[in-house]
Amino acid sequence: MITAVTGPGGFVGRALVKALIERAERPVLLSRNVARLPDFGGAVEPVEWSSTAATHLPRIDAVVNLAGETISGRWTPEKKRAIRDSRVLGTRRLVEAISRLEPKPRVLVSASAVGYYGDRGEEELAEDSGPGTGFLPGVCVEWESEVSKAAEPGIRVVMLRIAVVLDSGGGALQQMITPFKAGLGGPMGSGRQWFPWIHRTDLVNMILAAIDNDWSGPVNAASPGVVRQAEFAKALGSALGRPAVMPAPGFALRLMLGEFADTLLHSQKVIPAKAQTEGFKFRYPTLREALAASVAKPSA
Ligand SMILES: NC(=O)c1ccc[n+]([C@@H]2O[C@H](COP(=O)([O-])OP(=O)(O)OC[C@H]3O[C@@H](n4cnc5c(N)ncnc54)[C@H](OP(=O)(O)O)[C@@H]3O)[C@@H](O)[C@H]2O)c1
Repeated sequence: MITAVTGPGGFVGRALVKALIERAERPVLLSRNVARLPDFGGAVEPVEWSSTAATHLPRIDAVVNLAGETISGRWTPEKKRAIRDSRVLGTRRLVEAISRLEPKPRVLVSASAVGYYGDRGEEELAEDSGPGTGFLPGVCVEWESEVSKAAEPGIRVVMLRIAVVLDSGGGALQQMITPFKAGLGGPMGSGRQWFPWIHRTDLVNMILAAIDNDWSGPVNAASPGVVRQAEFAKALGSALGRPAVMPAPGFALRLMLGEFADTLLHSQKVIPAKAQTEGFKFRYPTLREALAASVAKPSA
């Protein structure tokens, strides 16, 4: 079995590559800069990958698409273009390249995001819920549409609508921990908004399950233990042994972070309906367990 991964050095990618090596695969790493990839301590096949230039791809059975400009940071017009183009045009280019291969890969598992759903209050969001409105939902709709084109030449496609990924050593948690350590942690905005999350180990296991089983279409990659943001802040404070009493008002977040603040203030009660129907077992179904593992564990 040969699995190719785009964005292999990222927060999710490096954990996935390790898991693939652990199951005795030799993954193909499609990276814009192979010289900067981490040492995975196992056999890998790095391939310089650009979303604009033609690249010869080796034989591949499965493809996992994780590349994309980080959404973190102030959303200037240039940043928004990079967020959109790296996903929409990058995925288009990937799908064109793998569609030309003979034999073709069996399956394409691509990242999408819970940002697909936008700001939805108390609504329970399963995979058949429609998209929201605004910049991120628009990007996710276009992104998933490019992924689905791989089905035309007969490749099975899975779009994982990923929630905030928790683990040590990077990602959103690392950024959230800093104010808590300074005693400045607390709920964001009203704190009433639903805040979907998933532990990185569960996400990696879900990617492997999507490759190995007959899953297709959108799948919510979110833990069943979705909580409101205030509860998340309280649990994080308790895992760190720090207070979580300093609220960050919505207007202050918007002033500091611009439009990106919406990703923290929007309410998304995302339910992993499809994964649960498929019998997927979460190793970290509750936030308390996920944070205990993430805050204590040495970085990957
Ligand atoms: N982490 C989360 O909480 C979360 C939540 C929801 C959705 N997701 C989605 O899951 C995917 C993986 O997330 P992650 O946290 O692993 O992301 P990450 O750590 O930011 O890594 C993404 C990788 O994409 C490539 N990349 C970065 N900027 C790019 C650009 N402008 N053009 C093309 N490629 C670029 C880089 O790989 P190379 O330089 O090696 O090519 C990078 O290592 C992303 O698509 C993200 O949107 C993540």
